Amino acid sequence: MMPSFPNISTSKNQQDGRKLANGNCKNQQVLARRQLILQHRKSLPIASVERRLVEEVRKNDTLIIVGETGSGKTTQLPQFLYNAGFCHDEKIIGVTQPRRVAAVTVAKRVAEECNVELGQKVGYSIRFEDATSSSTRIKYMTDGLLLREALLDPLLSRYSIIIVDEAHERTVHTDVLLGLLKKVQLARSHPTTNQHNFIKANAKGREDEPRSFSPLKASESAKSTSLKLIIMSASLDARCFSEYFGGAKAVHVHGRQYPVEVLYTYQPEPDYLDATLITIFQIHLEEASGDILAFLTGQEEIESVERLVHERIRQLPDGSQNLLTVPIYASLPSEQQMNAFRPAPSGFRKVILATNIAETSVTIPGIKYVIDPGLVKARSYNPVTGMESLIIIPTSKAQALQRRTLFMSDAVVVPDGRDLENASGCTRRLKALGIDDIIGFDFMEKPSRMAIVKSLEQLFLLGALSDDYKLSSPVGQQMARLPLDPMYSKALILAAEFKCLEEMLIVVAMLSVESIFYFPREKMEEARAARKSFSSPEGDHITLVNVYRASAECLEKSKTTNCKEKTMEKKLNKWCRENFINYRSLRHARDIHSQIEGHIQQMGFSPSSCGDDMLQFRRCLTASFFLNAAMKQPDGSYRALSSSQIVQVHPSSVLFRTKADCIIFNELLAVFSLLAAGPSTSGSSLLLSLASFFRLHILRCKAWSFFTRAPPQGCRIVWILECYGILETLASDPNW
Ligand code: CDP
Ligand code: MG
Repeated sequence: MMPSFPNISTSKNQQDGRKLANGNCKNQQVLARRQLILQHRKSLPIASVERRLVEEVRKNDTLIIVGETGSGKTTQLPQFLYNAGFCHDEKIIGVTQPRRVAAVTVAKRVAEECNVELGQKVGYSIRFEDATSSSTRIKYMTDGLLLREALLDPLLSRYSIIIVDEAHERTVHTDVLLGLLKKVQLARSHPTTNQHNFIKANAKGREDEPRSFSPLKASESAKSTSLKLIIMSASLDARCFSEYFGGAKAVHVHGRQYPVEVLYTYQPEPDYLDATLITIFQIHLEEASGDILAFLTGQEEIESVERLVHERIRQLPDGSQNLLTVPIYASLPSEQQMNAFRPAPSGFRKVILATNIAETSVTIPGIKYVIDPGLVKARSYNPVTGMESLIIIPTSKAQALQRRTLFMSDAVVVPDGRDLENASGCTRRLKALGIDDIIGFDFMEKPSRMAIVKSLEQLFLLGALSDDYKLSSPVGQQMARLPLDPMYSKALILAAEFKCLEEMLIVVAMLSVESIFYFPREKMEEARAARKSFSSPEGDHITLVNVYRASAECLEKSKTTNCKEKTMEKKLNKWCRENFINYRSLRHARDIHSQIEGHIQQMGFSPSSCGDDMLQFRRCLTASFFLNAAMKQPDGSYRALSSSQIVQVHPSSVLFRTKADCIIFNELLAVFSLLAAGPSTSGSSLLLSLASFFRLHILRCKAWSFFTRAPPQGCRIVWILECYGILETLASDPNW
């Protein structure tokens, strides 16, 4: 039995017995902790340059701050600025993070340092979770969230300062955000003409948006003051940021760097998961105390390593079984992500199995050993085919440096991942912000023209753009209000119209999490049988609906027997185990479901179910995901219609053996093997081999529900331009 974390409550008797003594003891503990925090803050490298930094912020509208990880930039600078009076007139200091988990953990830490309740003076806001109030002055948030706020408050008038943290990560969001902030800064520094034009262009018909603040009125705008921008990072090319911001000043904070010893394997490991496992146990059994952090590529991989670690722990002698696994990946609910930050129970060593989420912006205390197989799962967008897929690729040099780890000595290096980014995110966001000239937008590094055109095409085909390519069609306006990818938003909007919103809401929530099903190696047959009981011959989407409904039924049953919430959760957990459903993923899907439901209700859609008549629902699916359609080939493989790529149905799909004539899929998985590329591959030839590999290895394609009838002959030739229309016609054809 694995031990749990110490913050989980002690027994009632113990609590009663300790109550009296506890009062005093607790006060002392709190005082000691505060003292410790104070000392810690003073010892940070950034503490000695507080006055200078505040001065620089006063003098410069845009400032670039570079300092090593751990120097105190993220936690301390906002506090310095708050204390220096930058929050006058109830203005806010906003700090953006590329990752949810960083926004949450840092906000918690800073609230503790300020000795305030989280959500009061210090808060955070991430998609689907808001821990702020009207008294919040230091607000941590994801960059995507700030972009959403800009939809409603184009001048970001509530903020006196915006700090873009970890700017070197340069996600699609950061690039859009930087361009936007530049515009906002200009508009706010020239209060009259610029602002009016800017507001007119950006705040369009969103007065019904359910948020605590309303679009800026012209009278208010005149009062707003200039916006300070701070761009911050550990390993940033300060010069390119400085150039982008018209020669902005850059300051360096000299931080401490913990001594790091890097050990490499002698040769590339043919099975990196096995090598990781062996290394974990080598460290555990042979090295001094200290926690381990191992980088893996995704939830499935993390869960399988977790199971293998548990298996091996059981085989260890009694005294050595004190190893505890803690997973952390992006789709894990925030509450569970926090386990990585809690100390292991005394006498235990913690091994954190993480995706690149733990790479930057988060500080996990107690880590002494890092294992890095040097791979990362990246979402890759191919602008030529317009298709997005998940591939496993080697980490970039910058990432490897961040991980500082057991890296293969002759590891290959590819340029930073942004080459692979999806431009459609950019396009949709800019359109939603009322910025229509995407090609002319002042990007720091512009996505390729081809990528932009493809992304516009996608929005156009989804019916989001009006004829003049503005996001002003009714569907486009509704889509802009949903924090989801365009196809998912479209699916919900259509489902509302065709009375199957309930089912689509479930599908969107279930598709937002990784791996609902799990197949433990030792119980493969049982797991398959369990899965079969939910399977629908019509595809994986309906199968997911069946799972969700069955789980809801289980909860409903416990409700009628008046169970407490905790007991209900236990029952659900048990149900999941019996049915080989991933409890964590299901829990998360349920959370997302209720969040999206909130958005949907605020948009005025009422819940509707198509009952047993799934045809309507499948029509809505095809009319939203038609860009991901594939036709069966004579040899049994499939051809993706929008790209002509040959793909195969993933063995985990219920359609794996069915071989339907035409299918829509949700995700393309490409398997790229670093090791097969060979140890001598240099950076540039890797890129080439990546390209060809990519073609050859898109062999696993998750296939989903299919059309009942194939589209008419000949439509493939002009598929992209016509399929939408054809599907619309098909969807309204009563005989279809
Ligand atoms: O942003 P930067 O990497 O410069 O440093 P930071 O995130 O402000 O962290 C400064 C110090 O605060 C770290 O060295 C940690 O010791 C501590 N910290 C923490 O204990 N818990 C957190 N969630 C974040 C930081
Ligand atoms: Mg930081």
